[in-house]
Amino acid sequence: MEHTISIIGTGYVGLTTAAILSSIGYKVYTIDIDEKKIDIIKTGKSYFHELGLDEFVENGLKSGNLIPTLSYEESIPNSDIVFSCVGTPDNSDGSSNLEYIFSAAESFSKYAKDGAVYVQKSTVPVGTGRKIIKFINEKKHDLEFSYVSNPEFLAEGSAVHDTLFIDRLVVGGDDKNSLEKIKNIFSKIEEQTVNKDFSNIADYATFYKTLSGKRTSVEFNSKVVETDLESAELIKVTANAFLALKISFANSIALLCDKTHADVNNVMNGVGLDDRIGKSFLYAGLGWGGGCFPKDVSGLISIAKIHDVEMPIMEAAVNVNNDMADYVISKIDPNLTEKIAVLGLSFKPGTSDVRRSPSIKLVNKLIEKGHKVKVYDPKSMDEAIKELDPQVELTENIDQCVTNTGVIILATEWKEFIDADWKRIKEISKAKIIIDARNRLDKENMKEIGFEYKGVGRD
Ligand code: UGA
Repeated sequence: MEHTISIIGTGYVGLTTAAILSSIGYKVYTIDIDEKKIDIIKTGKSYFHELGLDEFVENGLKSGNLIPTLSYEESIPNSDIVFSCVGTPDNSDGSSNLEYIFSAAESFSKYAKDGAVYVQKSTVPVGTGRKIIKFINEKKHDLEFSYVSNPEFLAEGSAVHDTLFIDRLVVGGDDKNSLEKIKNIFSKIEEQTVNKDFSNIADYATFYKTLSGKRTSVEFNSKVVETDLESAELIKVTANAFLALKISFANSIALLCDKTHADVNNVMNGVGLDDRIGKSFLYAGLGWGGGCFPKDVSGLISIAKIHDVEMPIMEAAVNVNNDMADYVISKIDPNLTEKIAVLGLSFKPGTSDVRRSPSIKLVNKLIEKGHKVKVYDPKSMDEAIKELDPQVELTENIDQCVTNTGVIILATEWKEFIDADWKRIKEISKAKIIIDARNRLDKENMKEIGFEYKGVGRD
């Protein structure tokens, strides 16, 4: 392969990209400053749960193409393309914390060879790219390099799928040649995916299922957006903000549905059939969380303020979201003496990530209000313990969680909860009420079984 690649940061974006690029034949250094993470990756697996990722990591290591390392000195000087995939947490005032972004750029400036392309995959506020270019120039004025903004759109829980079956590729920057290089790299992933070249690594049945076998030819060029640096940066944050807005909008309508006995799922299904609107991200419930939406929305509001632009529409989306846990709790009798079972703690199914998880917020608020709470999650118990009120009772499976409770709340819609034998759950739990805080259960079935069913905008 023509390029050697370094990827700084081994999170959802960095490690997934590194594992897949190494599996198509690139030599890829996957770099992190955390020794524990690198040690786990060296054993051939990921340190977080993500469907199919372990297989790609193992394959990359076996082929010798994937090189996990703590050393910038070993990796960057050998690389002609360096991706920055580091975290951008938010500061307490909602603005983006760019500490890791600039520290990665500093390492690049120190070790990069002339001609290297620096590719920003991390989500950064618009205008950051220009600042980084200036910063690298100041650190090493004679370094010849180019900068590309290449925001990432993969979602947690489907990171491998989203990288194999890329939805769209956005590249922004001043140097056309460099944009071309990045496009070529990602078009190779699609080519090999369509040819099923990865079928010895990935569970293709799982990954193809969601596409209903539609993707049989390479459509890559129709999905590329080649643009200026600032627009590329803004595309990413705007996309996440719009999706968050859709969910908050659905949640606002859900409140009205509760008062009028309409079913918000039926309403949104009817609304979403309009192609101009689209069906996705219209599930009402506990609201949005995770490592992206909350910080990207607050980051957008904050960068807009710096430019004297108000974002009342995004502030409203945040306010609606902030109220959803209390709204769900308002469906429970405040004097309930029996225990409450909460199923699901991760911010969404398919991941062990509990960052800004609406489910954890709900559990801690229930405890604050004096309720007794039992919890269970298939993948995130270890992570969740650090965030949960110590009074919460931890359990090891659904049965333990629901036994002898008065109310069951579905807080994260893991498949194993949706597909569970709810008739049996009703018997062992003795619970009278099921609160479907994700609107994913079959409400007629729940009622037949004998539950009093309460969804969010759906009774
Ligand atoms: C999100 C975007 O979907 C990705 O495209 C983007 O690349 C990523 O952020 C990122 O910036 O890195 P992610 O945070 O993994 O991905 O999760 P989503 O699937 O978007 O879900 C976010 C939250 O919205 C979850 O808490 C989920 O439960 C909630 N949600 C989602 C709803 O409440 N209703 C819906 O209809 C959909």
